[in-house]
Amino acid sequence: MNRLHGRVALVTGAGRRGNIGLAVCDAFLREGAAGVVATDLRSDEAEVIRQQVGSDRFRLLAHDVTDPASWQQVLAETVRSFGGLDILVNNAGISIHGGIETTSLDDLHKVMAVNLDALFLGIQVCLPELARRAPLHAGGAAVINNLSMGSFMSNPNNLSYHLSKAAGRMLTLCVAKELGPRKIRVNSIHPGVTMTPLMRDGCQKYVEQGVWESMAAGEAALASLNKLNIAGQPEDLAHAFVYLASDESRFITGTALSHDGCCEYY
Ligand SMILES: NC(=O)c1ccc[n+]([C@@H]2O[C@H](COP(=O)([O-])OP(=O)(O)OC[C@H]3O[C@@H](n4cnc5c(N)ncnc54)[C@H](O)[C@@H]3O)[C@@H](O)[C@H]2O)c1
Repeated sequence: MNRLHGRVALVTGAGRRGNIGLAVCDAFLREGAAGVVATDLRSDEAEVIRQQVGSDRFRLLAHDVTDPASWQQVLAETVRSFGGLDILVNNAGISIHGGIETTSLDDLHKVMAVNLDALFLGIQVCLPELARRAPLHAGGAAVINNLSMGSFMSNPNNLSYHLSKAAGRMLTLCVAKELGPRKIRVNSIHPGVTMTPLMRDGCQKYVEQGVWESMAAGEAALASLNKLNIAGQPEDLAHAFVYLASDESRFITGTALSHDGCCEYY
């Protein structure tokens, strides 16, 4: 409790119940954050989420992470609501399946815009505010990029996603070196299969196509990809974000934290 006392966080891609971004927001609030701003392009679940979270330390804002003006707006609203920004979580992400023959240049650009450009933009826009607040905390300010085990493994059927997540890792390393002297720590988290609605929708399609005979069979197949033989849950993953956001990780920057039950990279 209270590991994030007094901190203000902005978490992108947190506008869907059961997803990773919202689990991170819940965990930050439980750890005593002074303010948590969730943002998302989608707004269809916004009211339900606001009611469910039910905290005056929580805001949910409309945001397109690929748009610089939209970043300026959410940052201004965050500072207006809670007085500053200490933690930036770049979590929004998309994938468009396809390999070199089946991915259009337009699709590649769409994926790169959300999974890579948005990280660059978010850090750039939030930097002055993070730098202003960094001296207040033993662990400084924190940027956490939610990437994927896809940063380290190839997948010919999801070329643009893996490319974007690999580039996100290099961005993390370069910016960690640049901003370390200003006490802004920049780390990346690399989840393996994590059971969010997005993942369940994908499983459901495979069940309908007869690839798996049931959802349970699909979950078991996904779990078998790692050595612990379990499917990750957003709530488990959220603990890793709390750690990297808190002073407990004050000597950690530029790191890649895998949360994947030891997947085989190939
Ligand atoms: N679930 C997994 O197994 C898994 C594994 C590895 C990595 N990840 C990564 O975790 C992150 C969250 O994934 P999730 O499973 O919770 O999926 P999700 O689809 O529920 O979450 C992503 C969110 O990003 C939002 N988003 C998309 N484009 C946006 C834009 N332009 N501006 C603002 N928001 C936008 C979506 O509306 C969505 O709510 C993603 O970056 C994903 O690549 C997930």
